[in-house]
Amino acid sequence: MSTPKRYLVTSALPYANGLKHIGHLAGAYIPADIYVRYLRAQKRDVVFVCGSDEHGTAIPIQAKKEGSTPQQIIDKYHQALKEDFEALSVSFDIYHRTSEPLHHQTAAEFFTHLHEKGALQTQESEQYYDEASKTFLADRYIKGTCPHCKSDRAYGDQCETCGRTLSPDELINPLSTLSGETPQKKKTTHWYLPLNEHEAFLREWILGEHGKDWRPTVVGQCKSWIEGGLQPRAVTRDLDWGVKLPDAIPGGAGKVLYVWFDAPIGYISATKQWALDHGKDWTPYWKDKETKLVHFIGKDNIVFHCIIFPVMLKLHGYILPDQVPANEFLNLEGDKMSTSRNWKLDMRDYIHDFVKAENGGGQCVDMLRYYLTQIAPETKDSEFTWKGYQDAVNSELVAIFGNFVNRTWVLMHKLCNGKVPHLHPALFDENENALIQEIQGAPARISELIEQYKFREALFEVIDLARKGNQYMQKREPWMLAKKTDTDPTAQQQIDNCLHLCLQLTANLTILINPFLPNTALTLLHMMKVVDRMLDWENAGSLKLLNAGYPLRAPQLLFRKIEDAEVTLQIEKLQKGMTNPIATPASPALPEKNNTATNKPVIQYEDFAKLELRSGIIRKAEKVEKADKLLKLEVELQGEIRTIVSGIAEHYQPSDIIDKQVTVVCNLAPRKMRGIESNGMILMATDRNGKLHFVHPEHPIEPGSLIS
Ligand code: 2FM
Ligand code: ZN
Repeated sequence: MSTPKRYLVTSALPYANGLKHIGHLAGAYIPADIYVRYLRAQKRDVVFVCGSDEHGTAIPIQAKKEGSTPQQIIDKYHQALKEDFEALSVSFDIYHRTSEPLHHQTAAEFFTHLHEKGALQTQESEQYYDEASKTFLADRYIKGTCPHCKSDRAYGDQCETCGRTLSPDELINPLSTLSGETPQKKKTTHWYLPLNEHEAFLREWILGEHGKDWRPTVVGQCKSWIEGGLQPRAVTRDLDWGVKLPDAIPGGAGKVLYVWFDAPIGYISATKQWALDHGKDWTPYWKDKETKLVHFIGKDNIVFHCIIFPVMLKLHGYILPDQVPANEFLNLEGDKMSTSRNWKLDMRDYIHDFVKAENGGGQCVDMLRYYLTQIAPETKDSEFTWKGYQDAVNSELVAIFGNFVNRTWVLMHKLCNGKVPHLHPALFDENENALIQEIQGAPARISELIEQYKFREALFEVIDLARKGNQYMQKREPWMLAKKTDTDPTAQQQIDNCLHLCLQLTANLTILINPFLPNTALTLLHMMKVVDRMLDWENAGSLKLLNAGYPLRAPQLLFRKIEDAEVTLQIEKLQKGMTNPIATPASPALPEKNNTATNKPVIQYEDFAKLELRSGIIRKAEKVEKADKLLKLEVELQGEIRTIVSGIAEHYQPSDIIDKQVTVVCNLAPRKMRGIESNGMILMATDRNGKLHFVHPEHPIEPGSLIS
């Protein structure tokens, strides 16, 4: 198959009526980002567009809920969504919004074009009208009793109790949610897209040759729509929030485009804005047959992207999507993710708890991207569990990938003077040859999988290559060879071979992991002191990425372990429905009468959760010169000794506190005291006489244990 001239990649435009959760992220954003980063590394011409979907009844309804206006809602959530995607390294070329005039103009023109072509039909029908509010009621604005389960939590589009799709006519005792009155039927005219007239095209296009590489779940859904009989679909609404019908359309006053008509046109207006911003021409991206258009979506959007929008595109003369790699749903801890039940993990919550809470949160971004790709619901629904996340991070990223890189770096610094050692091919045996073959063979396999949208398998291949690196090193045991350099004249050369190849493998892993874990790739580039040009995919498979004699930097921690306590905490938060607000409002002070036990303002749980408290053991203590109050302590935490300067010299003699268990605030910013950098703080309790006491667990526990 020849390489397309250019690519236009889209991710579903999220509604700007709330934050989005990791199910959305895994469905339409991370896979698209992997694909695009890969294409960029292949130096293909690619534009990656997305933006906020700011129309539809979801917006005014949210405004009502929050006691706000639709405009305030879209402004707030557009900004929040944009920030969240950025924080998780989703690299859109443009994140646009459908409230922009350019979009309104593009969508209105699109409608006019179809109208003038005679591709739309008008039809009069009777719809519910609320006399009190003087408005036709969108399906969501009509409430009533469900004809199926008799629940009174049913709306004109869906029953909240049994989940069945409804139409307003099916509701028993319909009421307007705006006035609480019983609505009346009133005649209105709308424009319809006659999908039934395009059945032959859709059948041939999706169920024939073109759709043969599409995911079976996608084709299956389309097939059942087509076989269920396609009906004309209304593309206008009687609403005041949305893209207004152009004045030139007779009878269009007071009507707006149906949100699902205007939203996908948002991909086109975003491309136009991107082109304007970069001095480019947008038209080939939508009109030239040599463009490959790919829509990344979740399965609830299939019909719109595979049936309705393609018909609109065809009628307008634009290209059709080459692929719509829709994902199934991601469940969370044994249940469906749900905003109304607050059973979800918002992107923002993860960012708050993991990314922002840490210096250089890039590793936590990549840890999430890793797990979401590993469990991506590509062929069936899958599940996020915190335990699964912990296992994926600890036993794959840390124990395989991170461990391989770290061992390579530490040994290279220890046994090869911190430089890329020379190669001695005369000493190669089948172990070197096998590793070289693996390095050379991996890129093509991974490329093929990515181009087939099989991202989880592709990522597995990358980790597997790191696993092979570990196995090779285990076989060679350079640390054992180091003991033989006096007796075996080739020992140093064998060490050099091993570490040279492991370094070349690390450079290859950097290129291969980059589409998936871009922050990790950047850290590796820094450690290797190379520029990002090395990430070009054409370099993958090479054994000459690092020159012998080139000095490399010290190793950096690529991934950190996830502790059991973090898993417990997150599950607890989920069960208690605790989320992080968009902007934490200032905490109100406690009223005076409650002010007995606390003198500080009340904080939210999230504020407390920012602290990393661990149990430590004082291993060394000494007085700080010319400072009566300060002791310099060496405190053992998990496999680490920390220097902490503590103001306890007037209460304790250094020799009295050796091996004492203490509580340490580990993530306090470092601070210099009397020229000594203090990395943390020891918690002390003050008794009524002002004497200080250590705070420690009931029984001695392992240093480094988390306190929460
Ligand atoms: O389901 C949703 O969240 C929609 N806002 C997706 C729109 S995708 C595209 F058509 F814009
Ligand atoms: Zn029901």
